[in-house]
Amino acid sequence: MWSVQRLYKRNSLDNEDFVESMVEFVKQPTLESAKHEEAISQLGLMPPMPLPDEMLKKIAAYILEEQFPPPCEHWRIAAQRADQKGDKEHAMKDRRQLKRFCNE
Ligand code: HEM
Repeated sequence: MWSVQRLYKRNSLDNEDFVESMVEFVKQPTLESAKHEEAISQLGLMPPMPLPDEMLKKIAAYILEEQFPPPCEHWRIAAQRADQKGDKEHAMKDRRQLKRFCNE
């Protein structure tokens, strides 16, 4: 959710656009409208959430406002795995995030 919030904030014009584009995505997820490429390649596309618009708007507003903790443990494990696989670029990217957001 930390990364999803960041990506949506970066890719939306304002709070209203954030909520609207998230509601649209969640009702009918498509590869074209997805922003989190890494999550898609690892987990696949999420299933559609056939909930009333008003409910989805509230959930999207929560995702906009909540202060999620950065995924430090995820980066630690991912950096180690990338090292093991010899994927230097990925390992460096995750260590940069650890340094920037987790004081490591
Ligand atoms: C109302 C409930 C939900 C909301 C608001 C929501 C919202 C989101 C959003 C905004 C993303 C980022 C999409 C992107 O731009 O890449 C995402 C990703 C994801 N979600 Fe959900 N989600 C919900 C329910 C679920 C459920 C029930 C599942 C699993 C059964 C799920 C699985 C995933 C997965 C695997 C991803 C990463 C891959 C992708 O982007 O599709 N989500 N979710």
